[in-house]
Amino acid sequence: MVDGVLYRDFEDGDLEWTLLAMVASMRATMTPERSAATGDLAMLGEARSDLDRYHYRSGGADKLIVALRDGERIGMVWVTMERLHQDPGGAWLLEVFVEPRYRRQGLAQELMRRAERWAREQGATEMWLNVGGGNTNALGLYQSQGYIVETMHLSKRL
Ligand SMILES: CC(C)(COP(=O)(O)OP(=O)(O)OC[C@H]1O[C@@H](n2cnc3c(N)ncnc32)[C@H](O)[C@@H]1OP(=O)(O)O)[C@@H](O)C(=O)NCCC(=O)NCCS
Repeated sequence: MVDGVLYRDFEDGDLEWTLLAMVASMRATMTPERSAATGDLAMLGEARSDLDRYHYRSGGADKLIVALRDGERIGMVWVTMERLHQDPGGAWLLEVFVEPRYRRQGLAQELMRRAERWAREQGATEMWLNVGGGNTNALGLYQSQGYIVETMHLSKRL
């Protein structure tokens, strides 16, 4: 357990750190080959457009929580109620990230509990998320929280 953590909603001053956290998550989600072939600028652009779409233009249909310790940003979680799936009761967990030196101390679990609580308050009856097939840390986290695998995406280089 990490002591002295402050959880608060995303503010504009968190933008730069949040984009970098999203890029780190994207890299953790990709295969090593795809990650090596994708530059930081392309990923920053994708992160920025996701933030625009699901945060700045969502009209309050999302919750982005930043965790801070001694003024330093150490983790975040982001969930949206936007209807990304046919099921109207479904919320989507878009992102969860913890700074490396705070990992394996239960911070992501606490962030997910907060995201789920918010989604439930919005009327969600289930949470969906995507995870990279090789992202064993994240898969371990989600399974520890009771998530099960429903679908899988496969790819092959042509
Ligand atoms: C995935 C991530 C958010 C986990 O954060 P965390 O704060 O370390 O997670 P927690 O301490 O709450 O771990 C909860 C559980 O997840 C599992 N887990 C987390 N890291 C793991 C690892 N390296 N190996 C195996 N299981 C792991 C364990 O079951 C763990 O419980 P335990 O420590 O009691 O065994 C963090 O590794 C991270 O930020 N990774 C990069 C970003 C990312 O991949 N995000 C997900 C995108 S889909």
